[in-house]
This record gives sequence, C-alpha cells and structure tokens, in this order.
Amino acid sequence: MTVDYSRRAADYDRIRGDEATDREFWLRGIVEVGRVRPRERVLDLGAGTGRFASLLSATNPVVAFDASREMLHVARAKSRFECVLGDGHRLPFRADAFDVTMIVMVLQHLADYRAVLGQVARVSGRVVLATSDMATRRLGILEEAFPSLLKVDRGRFPPIDRIVTALKDAGFPDVKVEERRYVRTLTPEQQLDRIRRKYLSTFDLIPLNEYERGLRFLEVELPRRYPSRFDLAASFTFLGATK
Ligand SMILES: C[S@@+](CC[C@H](N)C(=O)[O-])C[C@H]1O[C@@H](n2cnc3c(N)ncnc32)[C@H](O)[C@@H]1O
Repeated sequence: MTVDYSRRAADYDRIRGDEATDREFWLRGIVEVGRVRPRERVLDLGAGTGRFASLLSATNPVVAFDASREMLHVARAKSRFECVLGDGHRLPFRADAFDVTMIVMVLQHLADYRAVLGQVARVSGRVVLATSDMATRRLGILEEAFPSLLKVDRGRFPPIDRIVTALKDAGFPDVKVEERRYVRTLTPEQQLDRIRRKYLSTFDLIPLNEYERGLRFLEVELPRRYPSRFDLAASFTFLGATK
C-alpha cells in the first residue's frame, strides 16, 4: 500500500517541522554529510514541498523532483528553484547533470530503491540520504498508543546495511554513515495536533480503528504525563556516498 501525498500537501510544512529545526538539524546534516559546497548543482529527489530545496537554493542551484503534483505545487510557491514532476525510477536528466543528489525520508516510499540509486549514480557524482534506522528507532508513548506502528515501519524502511550495499552496487563505493540525534520540544497539544493530522505517513498504513483508539489514549495520557512540555528525542541516519 502506498501513501497518498495529495491529501498531505496542504499542511505538510506546518506539521512536519519548523524552520529552525529544518535548518539546524536537517539542512546541516545534508550539507555536512553530503559535503555540499556552495554553487554545486543539487537534485532534491522526493523533494516534497521543497523544505530543503528552498533553504539550499540560497547558495546552490537546486532542482526539486517529486512524484506528487500537489506536493510540488506547494514547492513551486517557494519559487527560487526549478521543480520537476516525475518518478525517481526514471530520472529525466542527462548523465552527470548534478554534483550531488539529496534523498531525505524517501527510501521507504520507493518500489525499488536500488533501481532509483542506480538512476542517481547516472545523473549525479555524489548522494546524501537521510532515513530512519529501524534497528534503533523507538517511539516512546506512541508505541503504547499504536502497537503496530513500528512493525509496519520495519517492513518499509530498508535496513542501513542494505542501503550501504545498494549504494556500492549502484556505483558509489565510498560510503559514510552517520547517526544524528534529533531533539525537539513541543507542547502536548502541539504533538496531539500533529498526530491528528497524521504527521507520520505510517498512520495511513495502520488499521483505522487502531489509529482512532490510539488517538483517544493520547488525548488523555499526553497531557497527563507531560503537562507542560513533550520532548521528542529521536535519531536519524545520514549516509553520504561518492563515486
Ligand atoms: C516523506 S516525504 C519527504 C519529502 C521531503 N524530502 C522532506 O523531507 O520534507 C516523501 C516524498 O517522496 C515522494 N515520492 C514518493 N515516491 C516517489 C517516487 N517514486 N519518485 C519521486 N518522488 C517520490 C512523495 O511524493 C513525497 O513528497
């Protein structure tokens, strides 16, 4: 089952992040692990609403590429970069059109991520990926509320060692892996709002009755256990690879 991004586009930015986190955590990870230098040509594969394409376009020419017309419609309104609609399994770019490709939280959506990485090796000299490592991912109270959430994600997110192998097979022999700690403080009401708006795409993939029961549980338990602040602590894995 795939995730329908047409319904998510309108409020994706509002529930996903804030500009400080996007800049200080995500963009910093992309630039540092991907060794992205100013003016290098960047392809943002699965760019979504262009959160990172937009930030990076201040220093680099960026093409935002995505399969969802609605997500790209939001990205286009940010307007400082080119937007291209298409499927990552068939990248419509010439060989070596880019210095670096970034792929942020996209692998779990791809039918054949190995084939996509093969396409990336054709159009780009380097690649930087950000993903969740399901071997270490913990969701705290969300696991209590939604017992099948992690199980569903373990079936979706490729394991890190397989991604490393896929990158090498695609033609990127030099691979670096870095796990980065992510901390964000919200009010319990902000976290509930994100859950009501299904900020994790996996909420669309668990049974509806489990989602509704879990939401009712959290409406009581989140404010009770975390009356004034809810600390989101997680880690994400960045991989940088070079031909
Ligand atoms: C979780 S969102 C990540 C968006 C953005 N990278 C971010 O982190 O904000 C996943 C994105 O991948 C896109 N996507 C899924 N399958 C794709 C494919 N085969 N080719 C291109 N984009 C795809 C979706 O449309 C969606 O915008």
